[in-house]
Amino acid sequence: METVIVTGGTGFVGKHLIPKLINDYDTYVIVRSYNKAKELFSRDVLNHITLLKGDLSRHDINLEKSIKNIYVDKLYIINLAGKVNLTSNSKFFNDIYKHNVETLSNLLKLLEQTGKIEHISLFLHLSSLAAMGALNPSTVFTQDSPCLPVIPYEVSKFKS
Ligand SMILES: NC(=O)c1ccc[n+]([C@@H]2O[C@H](COP(=O)([O-])OP(=O)(O)OC[C@H]3O[C@@H](n4cnc5c(N)ncnc54)[C@H](OP(=O)(O)O)[C@@H]3O)[C@@H](O)[C@H]2O)c1
Repeated sequence: METVIVTGGTGFVGKHLIPKLINDYDTYVIVRSYNKAKELFSRDVLNHITLLKGDLSRHDINLEKSIKNIYVDKLYIINLAGKVNLTSNSKFFNDIYKHNVETLSNLLKLLEQTGKIEHISLFLHLSSLAAMGALNPSTVFTQDSPCLPVIPYEVSKFKS
């Protein structure tokens, strides 16, 4: 069976996505809280996934060990970890950056350090239209539209 590692599985997107993966993939979910995952998912889903505890905003040695121990042939990564915050207040920039940009670079480092990066067939990073900036519903974006992120969340999604 092919393997998928999902980050941000306890979030809004993750809670809908994980149950759809479990029949087709050996599914590992990186979570910050076992309890949150156990409250979120049914017993049936929990029986079909492996929870890996870890915080991606820093180097997490225990998470590194857990990932190292996974046997993989063909690996898919779905990176949903992030923080949605539409405030324009720049005092939140560092926090938003940490959760949306550093989580991605730490995940990539972990995959490299554990030798799993060579097995990746697909790396799906969930970005956002926010990376384009100016989230005005009447804006029409084309392939040539420039990215003009302004608020911290937009900048962080653009950077990642
Ligand atoms: N929801 C939308 O409408 C939407 C639209 C466009 C793009 N997106 C993007 O899609 C992704 C998922 O969105 P969502 O709505 O599911 O977000 P969410 O409900 O806020 O969930 C975020 C997930 O990321 C995890 N996370 C945050 N920081 C982490 C860290 N340092 N280490 C490990 N895990 C961490 C959270 O864990 P905890 O449960 O422990 O907090 C949670 O599982 C985000 O990147 C977001 O920018 C969302």
